[in-house]
Amino acid sequence: MKTLNRSLLLATSLVLSGCSDSPGDLFACARLAVQGFRPIADERAQRFESKVREATARCRGGDRAVAGRAVPWIDWQNYWGAGDSSTRGAESLFGFRHLSANGRGIDGVLLDLEYSRIELIKFNLLDNAGTYRDYVLGRGGADGPALKVWPEMRLPAGHPQYGAVGGDGAQLCQGDLIRARTLTGICNDIRNPLMGSITTPFARNVTFDATFPDLGKNELARNRHGDRLGLLQPDPQVISRRLFTREQSEPDKCRDGRGLPDQSADAHCDYLKAPFFNVLAAFWIQFMTHDWFSHLEEGRNAPDMMAVGCASQRVGNVETPLTPEQVAKLGCRPDDRMDRTFLAEDGDPATFTRDGRPYLTRAYKTTRNTVTAWWDASQVYGYDATSRRRVKRDPADPAKLSLVAIGERKGEGERLGYLPLLEAGDPMNPQWAGQEAAAFPDNWSIGISFFHNLFAREHNLFVDAFRKQAAATPDADSGLRNPARPAAPIAYKDVSPDELFEAGRLVVSAEIAKIHTTEWTPQLLYDEPLYVGMNGNWHGLVRHFPGLERALDKLVVGTYGKSARAKDATQWYSVFASGPGIFGLGSHRYDGQPPFARFDPKQKDIWSVDNPDHVNGGVNHFGSPFNFPEEFVTVYRLHAMVPDLIEYREWDGDPNAIRNQVPVVDTARGKATDAMRRRGLANWAVSMGRQRLGLLTLQNSPLFLQNLDMPRLGSATGRIDVVALDLIRDRERGVPRFNEFRRQYGLRQLTSFDDFIDPRLPAGSPERQRQGKIIGTLREIYGQHRCDASKVITAAQLNADGSRINDCLGRPNGSMVDNVEDVDTVVGWQAEFARPHGFAISETQFHVFILNASRRLFSDRFFTSSFRPEFYTHLGVRWVTDNGPDGPVMEKRSSNGHDDPVSPLKRVLLRTMPELGPELAQVVNAFDPWARDRGAYYTLTWKARPGAEADPAFREVKPR
Ligand code: HEM
Repeated sequence: MKTLNRSLLLATSLVLSGCSDSPGDLFACARLAVQGFRPIADERAQRFESKVREATARCRGGDRAVAGRAVPWIDWQNYWGAGDSSTRGAESLFGFRHLSANGRGIDGVLLDLEYSRIELIKFNLLDNAGTYRDYVLGRGGADGPALKVWPEMRLPAGHPQYGAVGGDGAQLCQGDLIRARTLTGICNDIRNPLMGSITTPFARNVTFDATFPDLGKNELARNRHGDRLGLLQPDPQVISRRLFTREQSEPDKCRDGRGLPDQSADAHCDYLKAPFFNVLAAFWIQFMTHDWFSHLEEGRNAPDMMAVGCASQRVGNVETPLTPEQVAKLGCRPDDRMDRTFLAEDGDPATFTRDGRPYLTRAYKTTRNTVTAWWDASQVYGYDATSRRRVKRDPADPAKLSLVAIGERKGEGERLGYLPLLEAGDPMNPQWAGQEAAAFPDNWSIGISFFHNLFAREHNLFVDAFRKQAAATPDADSGLRNPARPAAPIAYKDVSPDELFEAGRLVVSAEIAKIHTTEWTPQLLYDEPLYVGMNGNWHGLVRHFPGLERALDKLVVGTYGKSARAKDATQWYSVFASGPGIFGLGSHRYDGQPPFARFDPKQKDIWSVDNPDHVNGGVNHFGSPFNFPEEFVTVYRLHAMVPDLIEYREWDGDPNAIRNQVPVVDTARGKATDAMRRRGLANWAVSMGRQRLGLLTLQNSPLFLQNLDMPRLGSATGRIDVVALDLIRDRERGVPRFNEFRRQYGLRQLTSFDDFIDPRLPAGSPERQRQGKIIGTLREIYGQHRCDASKVITAAQLNADGSRINDCLGRPNGSMVDNVEDVDTVVGWQAEFARPHGFAISETQFHVFILNASRRLFSDRFFTSSFRPEFYTHLGVRWVTDNGPDGPVMEKRSSNGHDDPVSPLKRVLLRTMPELGPELAQVVNAFDPWARDRGAYYTLTWKARPGAEADPAFREVKPR
C-alpha cells in the first residue's frame, strides 16, 4: 500500500494532502492524508465505482461534493474547478497551486480517472478470439494480463502472407510488411500479425456470462429479467416513437426532417442543442467510427430479413398488440423489414475453471469487425482489396489521391479540388451510385463527404510539401528506411510514389488521432480536468520536463512493459505512462546507463528499425489482443447529434446570414455530390462549424433517420427506423441492458427510473418537470414487477453491506419495483440527465471511452514506438508534432487559462481552405461553434462573439 501511495504521487505529481480554505475542508484534507489512498480492487465487487469517502469529497469539493455522494452518479463532477467559474475555489495556497481548492479538485479528478482506468484495464478486457483462457490462467510462468504474444494472433496457413511472416515457425513481420500500415491491418504488432486486422472478432468489455441476457443462459440473467426480454420486446419502434422523437412546435415547417421546398430558410425543425459543440463534431465522430469498426459487409448484413417491431406495447405490465389506431398515432410501421446482423459463432462456448470457478471462453455469440480496428484512416485509404479499388490515385502523381477541379468558385482552397465519383466498374452497391469515391461509402451524407474531401486535400498537401523539399534537397536523407537495408538512408529523390503515398497515410492517420484526442474529445468533455487528461494521454503530464519524460518512458517501456507480473504490466504501466503520455512511447531508445544519465539531454538515441524490440517495444495490450468491444459500438450510437436541417451559410457573403435550411436527407448518399460541388467545401465548413449539434438525450433523435429510405431492402415500406434499429442491433449482439452494463463497468447501479432525474435541478423547474414526464414514459414502456428477494441478479457488484444484489434492489421483498434492469443501454445513457459539466456524453459512455480510447493508442505501434522518421519521414514526424509543415504556431490569445498551439484541425482547415482565415480567426477549438464567444472558464453560455451578433442563431429565445 505504501508503495502504491508513493508511486501514484510520483507518477502524477499530485499532492493532495495539506491545507484548505475552510476549516471543515482543512480537517477533511487532513483526514484524507491520514487515511491514505484507496487500494486497487482485487475483486470486481470491491471496485471504486467513482465514489469517494466523505473526507475525500469534502477536501476536493466541499459541501457540494459531499452532497453528491448520495446519488449513483460519479463524485468527481462536484469537485472544485471541475465545472465553470462558479465551481472554482481558491487558486493558490501559500503559493502552491496544487494545494489550493482548485488544485485539489482537479488533481482529484485526475486521480479518480486513473483509478477508473486501472480497474477498467484490470476487469474489463475480454477477448473473443480464443485468448481469454490464457488471460485468466496465465501461460509459461507469466500472468495472463502480462502476456504479449498469442497463438491465436498468428496468420493462419493459407493467408497470403503466411510464409512471409514465418509460416508454421515463430511468426515475425518484417521487410515490406512493417514499413507502413498494411491494407488489411496485419503486422501492426509485428509479433501478433493478425491482431486488429479485418474480420477478427469484436471483443467484449463485460463478462461473457453477462452477454445476451435475453437468451436466459444462466440463472443470474433469468433472475434479472424474468421472461420480459426479446429481440422485439419491449417493442423497439414503440420505444423510438415515444422516447426518441423530437417534438415539433411547427411540424409543417419541418415535415419529418424534409424541410420546405427549395430548401427555404423558413423551414424549421426543433431539436435540443449542445451550445458548446458543433455539427462538424457530429459528422467527425461518424467519420471516425467508419475507420474503427463495422459489422456490415459492403453495406449489407446477413441475407435473411426480420420484422422490426411496431407490433405491441406494455399496458398494465402486460405486452399487448398495437391496434391500427395506435400504430397510426405512434407513426411507426409494422411492415418495415431489415436484414439480420452477421454472426461469427453462435454455438455454446467452451468452458474452463480456475480455483473451482467456471469461465466461458467467449461470449454466447460473436460478431466480426469487417474493417481494420486500427486508427489508420481505413475509411479513406481502404481496408481490403474491394474497398481499395474505390480509392482513386492521381494518375499524374500516384503518391496523391485523385482530386478534380470543379467550377469557378471563389476561394484559394478550390484549386485543391474535390473527390472524383465512383465509376461504373467500381465495386459498389446500387445505392451508392453517384457518390464520391471513398473506401467506406456507406451512410454517406454531406458531413461524411466533407471530411473525406478535407483529408484527401490534406494528404495531397503533405505530398506537395514533400516534393518541394525533395526539389530543394534531393540528396538529403528523407528519414525513411528500408528494413532490408536499415543503415542506408533513403534520399528525398529516391522515395517512390508508393512509399510517399503510405507515408502520407501514416501522417494523416496520426493527425486524425491527434485531432480526436486533443481537440474533439476536450470539446466533447468540455471541462478543465478532461482538457488536462486528454492532453496528458497525447503529450504526457510532464511534457515540459524532457529529462523526466525520458526517464519515465524508459521505466514504462523497459521495465513495466517487459514484466511478467500482471500488476507491473498493467497498473504501473498505465500510471507511469501518464508521465510521458502514450503517443510516442518507446520511440527513442538510450543505452543502459546509470539512472541520472536518463536526464542527460545529449544522450544518443539508439533506436533502430533493425531491432524488433525497438520497432514494437512501445505497445501494450494488457494481456488481451486489441479490438473494439461490442459495447464500444453501443455507446457510439450517436444519431441524436445529427440535426434534421443544416443552416446553410456562405463564407464570402455574410456568414451571419442563414441562406437555406438544407435537410440532411437531401444530401444523403449520391445527393451529397451535388450539394458539395454546387455549394463548395468552405461554405459547408462555415455552415457546420457554426451550427450546434443535437444533445445526446431522449426525445432528440433526427426525424429523418426514423423514416430513412432503404430501397435496397425491397421491403413493403422501403424504409427503416434507424433509431429503433440501434436497439435491435444491440439486442442481436447481446449487449447487457443498462443497469448491468453500468455494474460491469464499475459504476453504481440505479434502483428506480427516478434515479435518472438530475438531483441538482430545483424542484418544480421546467427541466425537472420535463425529465419527470420522460421517466413516466419509461415506466410505462418497461413496466414494473413484484420483486423476489431470493433472486440474486448479478455477480458484478455487491450491496454496500457485502450482501448480494437481488431482484428487489434494496426494497422489501414483494414490493413493486421498476424494471430498471430491462432498460436498453442506448435508452439508459440518453436518460442520464445528470452529467459532469460540459459533457456532451453521459458518464456511462465516458467510462467505455476511458478504457478503449486509451487502448487505441497503447496498442498501436505507429502511435508509440514506430512514430519515427523511418516510417513517417522527417517531414511527417514534424508535421504531426507541429500540426503542419511550418513549425509550431501559437494562438494569440489564451483560452480557459491555457496558451495553446493553434489546434490541429484548425490548421488543416486553414491549409485546405485559406479563405476561411477571417472566419477562423477567433476559433480556438474547431468543434466549438465558430461564432460562439468562448468566454470565461468553460462557460456553456450561448453568446455571439464580436462580429457575429447579427447571426440569427443567437436570437433564439427558447433553448430548442
Ligand atoms: C446522415 C447521417 C447518418 C445516417 C444516414 C446513418 C445511418 C445508419 C444506419 C442505416 C445504420 C444501421 C446499419 C445496420 O446495422 O444495418 C447505422 C449504424 C450506425 N451508426 Fe449511423 N447514420 C448516420 C449518422 C451517424 C452518426 C453521426 C454517428 C455517430 C457516431 C453514427 C453511428 C452509427 C453507429 C455506431 C452504427 C452501428 C454500426 C455498426 O453496427 O457497425 N451514425 N447508421
